[in-house]
Amino acid sequence: MYTWEELYHFINHCNRCELCQTRNLPVMGRGNIQSRIQFISEAPGAQEDIQGIPFVGPSGQLFDKLLSLVSMTRNDLYLTNIVKCRPPHNRDPKESEQEACIPYLKYETLLVKPLVIVCLGRIAAKRIICSDYRITQEHGTWIYRKNCWLTATYHPSAVLRDARKMDDIIKDFESIKQKIDEVKAAQ
Ligand code: URA
Repeated sequence: MYTWEELYHFINHCNRCELCQTRNLPVMGRGNIQSRIQFISEAPGAQEDIQGIPFVGPSGQLFDKLLSLVSMTRNDLYLTNIVKCRPPHNRDPKESEQEACIPYLKYETLLVKPLVIVCLGRIAAKRIICSDYRITQEHGTWIYRKNCWLTATYHPSAVLRDARKMDDIIKDFESIKQKIDEVKAAQ
């Protein structure tokens, strides 16, 4: 088991895949490490790569709006990505890059001990929930596994590309807030 400081050190010096050659800064997860709530997205984009902070670009702005609609802030959760370094031109992270990076997510998860996990987008849902996850059909549904509730919703960038998904993502965030309230009440 590693501490947060050790994990930061590993990620900052990581060369486990070729993304280390093109990244500016690796992007470690951020947020409330005591919250027991973990949001998992895909990979850093251009702004995140410059600042070393998850979700600071346009997707992050929409993420914050969605949180505020359900009376939440980033301080209510821990937010991280499957892959910690930006894939060039924001392409999907390759299977081999995800494989190389997944141990970091496993250690983050061991430290956060989440009671609720929310996957943002297809890549995270396929990696975390099940390999044949269909985001369009299955978003917003819940499964219970190893003491933890899991769900997925659209990636905010998918909603920025297709505004017709907005109603669905808002409903999913309402369901997420409800589940978090239930889980916290039972704690
Ligand atoms: N998109 C992601 O999936 N993660 C980020 O941190 C930023 C954009």
